[in-house]
Amino acid sequence: MIKKIQTLDSALKVIWQDDTASVFPFIWLRDTDLLGFHPQTNERLFDLSSIDVLMKPQDVTLTERGVELQWPNEERRSLFSSAHLANYADACQLVDNAQVDYKGWFSEFSATRFIAKDCLQPARLKVLLQTLKRDGLVIVSQLEGTHGGEDFGELIGFKRETNFGITFEVINKADPNNLAYTAVALPLHTDLSNQEKPPSYQFLHCIENGAHGGESILADGFSIAQALKRDDPQAYGLLCSEEMPFRFYDDACDIRFRHPLISEKKGQIQRFIFNAHLADSFNSIAGNCLTYYMAYQKLMREIRKDKYALQLKLQAGEMMIFDNMRVLHGRKSFDPTTGDRHLRGYYIDHGEVDSKLRMLSK
Ligand code: OGA
Ligand code: ZN
Repeated sequence: MIKKIQTLDSALKVIWQDDTASVFPFIWLRDTDLLGFHPQTNERLFDLSSIDVLMKPQDVTLTERGVELQWPNEERRSLFSSAHLANYADACQLVDNAQVDYKGWFSEFSATRFIAKDCLQPARLKVLLQTLKRDGLVIVSQLEGTHGGEDFGELIGFKRETNFGITFEVINKADPNNLAYTAVALPLHTDLSNQEKPPSYQFLHCIENGAHGGESILADGFSIAQALKRDDPQAYGLLCSEEMPFRFYDDACDIRFRHPLISEKKGQIQRFIFNAHLADSFNSIAGNCLTYYMAYQKLMREIRKDKYALQLKLQAGEMMIFDNMRVLHGRKSFDPTTGDRHLRGYYIDHGEVDSKLRMLSK
């Protein structure tokens, strides 16, 4: 609740009951006034170009309904309830229930497990999504039937279609267009770095894992990036500033994109991309090719260290979900003569998961 208000030069200052204060610029109040939005679609109708951004209200009053403002040349008064302003109390930013801080992990980490049918309860699904955002990895167990994994995705959001389809079958194929569709070992990587926007969350549902070998390996790319930042800031800086070219091509497509391997925002690691089997020729990297190779190799050697690698063997009916912009995954080779191995995969983007978390928090 609002205790009192003060009118500053270009903003409204609100003092809350606990004596903390928030500042709302007048132009922000005018621009976000709910009367400027369509009542059904919630989209803005107000046209910012129609006003002077330096405008000030002629009158500001605190009433039991909230803060009322009278703008010049306008008949109606704007009303901002206490509850509405409280939602934006932190630097005018709407409280976001999809905001979850990440927690880094190393080889001894044990991923949280969720029983599939429990996640039909919204409260349990919410915990799963929050855990996924925190750790970048969770495991779902007791999925039923061969379609249990993809059906589970329906609880969360739209699947992201790629050149491998909406879902893809990870099996040892006679005519593979992807290393995953063979029986060879897959070194730690993130998927589809050749795409303009690599998919965010990856779901791998184990339908059968009867062959010898085929254990999954996972590593937290953010922990790896933090270590490199600490031990070799120059190499780290180069991997953040230079873009690496990636390419996937087969008979049907030729998809290329360039990304920095590590991305930061305000000093926080946001994205980790690494895929040595999709890396394209480096000759077009700006600056010194040799220095880049040295930084890249350093990262590659860091990734291989045992202290990061978590190993597990998925059982039929289990599915791992991990953040493909953070967690690297791979597998050991398997012997297809000793049994069948079949995973079914799909992707769901961050925006879908965040939207679901906000809906589950309402
Ligand atoms: C993949 C992949 C790992 C596995 O399909 O992207 O890396 O365990 N598969 O087969
Ligand atoms: Zn993969």
